Amino acid sequence: MPRAQWASRMGFVLAAAGSAIGLGNIWKFPYISGMNGGGAFVLIYLVAIALVGFPIMVAELVIGRNAQASPVVAFGKLAGAGSNWKMVGWLGVLTGFIILSYYGVVAGWSLNYVLMSVCDFLADKSPEQISSLFDKLYVAGDMNLFWYALFMLLTIGIVFGGVQKGIERWAKILMPMLFIIMLVLVVRAIFMPGFVRGVSFVFAPNFDKLTAGGVLEAVGHAFFTLSLGMGAMLTYGSYLGKKTDLVKAGATVCALDTLIALMSCLIIFPVVFSFGFEPNQGPGLVFKTIPVVFSQITGGELLAILFFLLLAFAALTSAISLLEVVTSHFIDSLGWSRKKATLIPGALILVFGIPSALAGSGGIFDSWKNIIGKNFFDTVDYLATNWMLPLGGILIAVFIGWFAPLEKIKEEFQEGSKFKTLFVTWLWAVRIIVPIAMIIVLLYKVRILKI
Ligand code: PHE
Repeated sequence: MPRAQWASRMGFVLAAAGSAIGLGNIWKFPYISGMNGGGAFVLIYLVAIALVGFPIMVAELVIGRNAQASPVVAFGKLAGAGSNWKMVGWLGVLTGFIILSYYGVVAGWSLNYVLMSVCDFLADKSPEQISSLFDKLYVAGDMNLFWYALFMLLTIGIVFGGVQKGIERWAKILMPMLFIIMLVLVVRAIFMPGFVRGVSFVFAPNFDKLTAGGVLEAVGHAFFTLSLGMGAMLTYGSYLGKKTDLVKAGATVCALDTLIALMSCLIIFPVVFSFGFEPNQGPGLVFKTIPVVFSQITGGELLAILFFLLLAFAALTSAISLLEVVTSHFIDSLGWSRKKATLIPGALILVFGIPSALAGSGGIFDSWKNIIGKNFFDTVDYLATNWMLPLGGILIAVFIGWFAPLEKIKEEFQEGSKFKTLFVTWLWAVRIIVPIAMIIVLLYKVRILKI
């Protein structure tokens, strides 16, 4: 069978932006910005997107399109079949497998909140009652399992449909809806009393509050939010034809991802400030604080539905790309049909995620924190985002910068591109800036480096 291709360049951009834009943008970015004091953190994040994220984004697209294959086969093709670089591909497949298993649990919460919003959960409740709902959900293992399984079935169903008829088709439906919902919510935020304070919290840099740890957190997050370091962009790039300008496409995806992250802040902080909440609430910001705020404003019921739908859509298009890395691996390496390569790994991931779904509700996956220090969910999250993604990113950068056949890389970078002269700058960013920045992030995240 010939390799699947995107039907249009627009389809690719929407699918790749769909992968990038996810819980990382709408759930995580606002709360880590809030915890790190806003403005200055956001500024560092923007710099990290440009200097670290964008070069690796293009590197992954270059590898993927050149090899026309998913990570393991792609590294084999570029480095030689017997090469150890194939391990980087394996690392990517494993990382996709692990991330999806707990990402689906958080995504499940967003589905739960969609239904709660539709059922008017805000009515007649005190702020304490509203925010305590999340604590109740967190410890309800059966509810977590239900929503997680439902979300995984949606993801599997879409990937099952294939590149054009599943991933691209759904990206073309969900992403425009996501943009529209975002716009509606931003416009609503403009009319809130806390808007100006919210904007200055996000955009006025206050370096007093920024710590070295915050800087590294920003760099690490730039990686996660762009879906880099595990071959998602590589795999999506492998369905591209030679006419696409990889530099421009990569820049567009980075820009859209950044835009949505900033818009999320512009939705969340004005609401937070309008009601006298503190911005540094942590992970509960979106599920505990925001619903309370919605309960206080006119039209809040509708806004809640829109907001949680937005979260669910964003999570879904990211989850699709996580599964696609695993699925395309089985198609390319073992010659499985797409159906088989979706159902079997999809089912395995679903099973592997059960402990994460149960991690809040007591039992071994919760009490395991007494020995390991984190419950099951937090353990896999920690391993994937702090170890595996940065490691994958460093290895991809070092491979492309120092070991891959330079002529081939140059040709692929320049093919179809208006930005041919950027090649040398890009190459040095990949050779030097990215590995150094990511090694420091990795050492810090795993606490070998203490600052
Ligand atoms: N980029 C996604 C987000 O921001 C997460 C993700 C990471 C998706 C890695 C695919 C691969 O939520």
